[in-house]
Amino acid sequence: MNENALPTLYLDERDQSLVVLDQTRLPGETAWLRLKNAPEVADAIRRLCVRGAPAIGAAAALGLYASAYRRVGEPDFYEGLEKDAALIAGARPTAVNLRWAVDRLMEKVRMIDEPERCIDVLKAEALAILREDEERNGRIGRHGESLIHDGDGILTHCNAGRLATAAHGTALAPIYEAARRGKKLRIYADETRPLLQGARLTCFELLAEGLDVTLQCDNMAASAMQKGLVQAVFVGADRIARNGDTANKTGTLSLAINARYFGVPFYVCAPTSTIDTHCETGADIPVEERDGAEITDLWFERPMAPRGVKTRNPAFDVTPWTLITAIVTEDGVLYPPFRF
Ligand code: MRU
Repeated sequence: MNENALPTLYLDERDQSLVVLDQTRLPGETAWLRLKNAPEVADAIRRLCVRGAPAIGAAAALGLYASAYRRVGEPDFYEGLEKDAALIAGARPTAVNLRWAVDRLMEKVRMIDEPERCIDVLKAEALAILREDEERNGRIGRHGESLIHDGDGILTHCNAGRLATAAHGTALAPIYEAARRGKKLRIYADETRPLLQGARLTCFELLAEGLDVTLQCDNMAASAMQKGLVQAVFVGADRIARNGDTANKTGTLSLAINARYFGVPFYVCAPTSTIDTHCETGADIPVEERDGAEITDLWFERPMAPRGVKTRNPAFDVTPWTLITAIVTEDGVLYPPFRF
């Protein structure tokens, strides 16, 4: 593991603010955002400055603490805290880690009637979430590594690496672990339209690790499988329902269908904080719909679609459990049928 890797997010103890690496500026620029209150935290999550399910959970927790810290002394401290929690938890709908982290902090403090003690507890719990995510992903890496063979070609989608978590990544954790153990791998990174997390972030972090990564457009994945370049697909998850149906970045579903057709194993890697036992199946998972301008305008000097065209921009899709070869969590490699 590269010791000099940029942290995704951390708490700055000097002023008790949440610092996040602004991922909208990568790979060209290394810029940090210092977030001090709930509106700033929610905005950074919504704009994907910090993104990836585990990372937004940790950002939500540290951000809620930073916001509460500034409210000490206000007469309506608890009212303000509840408002902050709702604002942050509502910033994005699909990754369950966001609400999970906020609920975990709020459950700890609802019975505490002293603001100073309340912020101490919020801080301890937020830092615990950060530490646990690092630890869980390390275990995902060790379990998932057993599914990778020397010489494999591995296809991944979006960014489920270090930049999407407190450390190690989820889908990339087994890849890092396999490489650390000397296995030679070829990684194929889907660019991941429309926000290009694969091109901008996955390639950035894998190249920084000295790994052999090849960037391809999303619609080239099927032919890579057809040519025998891909021995396994590893993806992350934003929410896993009780039956194993998995929401992940839009485009994951077609990868899973292609993988099944070509007989390539399809692995989902996620910490148990991404499992939502309130969702029976994928039909219960809310899918974020984002601005159509991300498709028509975002990366282009001139709009690449006629003005006024209707757009569909669901940020995630849901892969049915029947297409998933195994789900790797910190507890091990689980095979279908799943029951969480
Ligand atoms: O919209 P994003 O960039 O937050 O989407 C991220 C993904 O879909 C990741 O694959 C998922 O969160 C797993 S991250 C370890």
